[in-house]
Amino acid sequence: MPAITATAPGKCILLGEHAVVYQRPAIAVPVHQVQIRAIITPIPGGNQNDIWIESPAIRLCSRLHQLAGTHPIKLLISAIMSDLNVDHLPPLRLKISSTIPAGSGLGSSASVAVAIIRAVTAFMGFSLDNSKINQLAYQSETHQHGNPSGIDNTVITYQQPIYFIREQPFELIRVKNSFALIIADTGIPSSTRDVVNDVRCQWQQNPTKFDTLFTCAADLCNQARSAIEDGNIQLLGDLMSRNHTVLQEMTVSSVMLDHLVDTALQAGALGAKLSGGGRGGNMIALVEPDESIHIETALKQAGAVNIIKTIIPANNTTTHP
Ligand code: PMV
Repeated sequence: MPAITATAPGKCILLGEHAVVYQRPAIAVPVHQVQIRAIITPIPGGNQNDIWIESPAIRLCSRLHQLAGTHPIKLLISAIMSDLNVDHLPPLRLKISSTIPAGSGLGSSASVAVAIIRAVTAFMGFSLDNSKINQLAYQSETHQHGNPSGIDNTVITYQQPIYFIREQPFELIRVKNSFALIIADTGIPSSTRDVVNDVRCQWQQNPTKFDTLFTCAADLCNQARSAIEDGNIQLLGDLMSRNHTVLQEMTVSSVMLDHLVDTALQAGALGAKLSGGGRGGNMIALVEPDESIHIETALKQAGAVNIIKTIIPANNTTTHP
């Protein structure tokens, strides 16, 4: 069996995080500047226990059978094997490398899952369609995050801008005019699972307030989809900034996220907001390409520990995947 390499990108949520857990729409785009790479090499002459899993970023180097039964990679590989109807893997080394910071809202866990699914299935000589890959990746996200909406695994599997409502078929978004994003990392790790759980507690205590916030985020998201389809980037920026205010009211922003959002806006961004689970991780700023260096410098001076620039290209995608 030849060695196999599979990759999966990062992602960011343009609008609608948290509300999307409660069946409101959200928009997400792939971020190709960061990625997970899964490389599988055969171990000639190895025995049945020689299935090595290595992930230097999380200091993991272990035989598969020695991982705890609840380990997400072990659960994922079992699910893939059961889907492929194979009862054992040949001796192999699966090495996972990452340029996606964990716990930063860029979708590292879903990206790991998609890269592993693609690598293992190709190594075993199978090919799965995106819908099956997405389903397996969602299952893996559930083991890790408890109650994920499914937006991360979907945008990372399909690698295109998506309009997503939980438990409904998602839609690809037609992008009339390309637009540029700066993604700035607060350097503060945050657990999406904890923040999502905390929002749930607050929603249970004050359903009227939180339902209103979720519906407000949904309105902004629907307007943002139209703005993207109409090529109205100025309006998209305004809607993103308004979504940040709604997220602040949900209590998922932080001093540093607010500081970077304000900095980006003062430096001329068209819009800015936190992206992902919040309370840490990344913020995003929608920028005119000409202004991007200036805004990037301002964000670095304001304490951003890492900056990624990405362009969402114009496309003619129809609305069905
Ligand atoms: O922090 P991330 O990148 O995993 O994004 C989480 C997005 C949430 O809406 C907060 C949760 C979810 O499952 O959609």
